[in-house]
Amino acid sequence: MSTITQAPAKVRFAPRRLGHANVFVGDLDRSMAFYGSVVGLTEVCRERGIEAGFLTNGNTHHDVGCMQASGARRIGRDGHVQIHEGRGARAGLNHFGLEMENEATLVAAYERAKAAGLDIHRTTDHQLSHSIYVFDPEGNLLEFYADMMKEWWTVFKPEADLISGEWNPTATAPTTQSFYHPDPEINEVADAVFRPLRIAHAALVARDFPKLLAFYTDVAGLDVLRAAPDSSWAVLGGSTGAHTLTLLPEAPGRPAGLHHTTFQLKDDRALDEGLARARTAGIEPELVLEHPTKRSVFVKDPDGMRIEFAVERASAFARRQPGDEALVPYLG
Ligand SMILES: [Fe+2]
Repeated sequence: MSTITQAPAKVRFAPRRLGHANVFVGDLDRSMAFYGSVVGLTEVCRERGIEAGFLTNGNTHHDVGCMQASGARRIGRDGHVQIHEGRGARAGLNHFGLEMENEATLVAAYERAKAAGLDIHRTTDHQLSHSIYVFDPEGNLLEFYADMMKEWWTVFKPEADLISGEWNPTATAPTTQSFYHPDPEINEVADAVFRPLRIAHAALVARDFPKLLAFYTDVAGLDVLRAAPDSSWAVLGGSTGAHTLTLLPEAPGRPAGLHHTTFQLKDDRALDEGLARARTAGIEPELVLEHPTKRSVFVKDPDGMRIEFAVERASAFARRQPGDEALVPYLG
């Protein structure tokens, strides 16, 4: 896996928020069923040519993308290499999708990145969005994307073959029009175990916490919302001010990489009812958290990836308590 080693001056992509998580999965059908019936997202597209599926409740074109793990090279439209051979051999994080204001802000950041010598992994035309992919210094892949249309469902059809091709960010003048929906209608999945509104944030464990924090502020351009003076955690936000990413240092029993992804529930009732349905369905949570900063439930997906369903308090992050140390990875 290629990783960037240079974390040059202030590139600052400065995305709005987390749009989606894309994960490699051991069994695509099994995971699509889980993210539908348990996580409570609606399947909107299967991109058969790359063995991928996408789910959303309407917040963006997808909150979650799943891709069959195989390690084989994935070719998109126009012979474009979407996944290099050897990548995605096992289940785990593929990338996070971070939503930009528009194509012009994306291309401006791309030009700053190129000028600073940042290694750009690939630039992709997904039709519904244009995307720039960059590895963080620890090998986690980020996608900075700008939506290019409002009617994403005209591309994300239930059965698609190949959607994506190569994109040259400087070939044409970028648009300053913003296509994300500022206040989308959310369609809850009526018979799902949990019924979240949207993906909210992700939590990553760092091998080198200061270095990764510097990357996510200086290159990704997220803002530190809260951070522990002892570097035991940091909570970062996008330009909307919403909690987008939690960073944690590596610790015994807490390996580097993805710690969890979090889905926002509407209210306490949604959490209580989801928890009751989970237990009825034989899903025992890893942790049920009752804390001044939030209430949440942690479960694991079929590949063991941790998912949180949370109701955050207005006072979120403000009232850590003595004895919280063991809960730190779950509080972010
Ligand atoms: Fe993506």
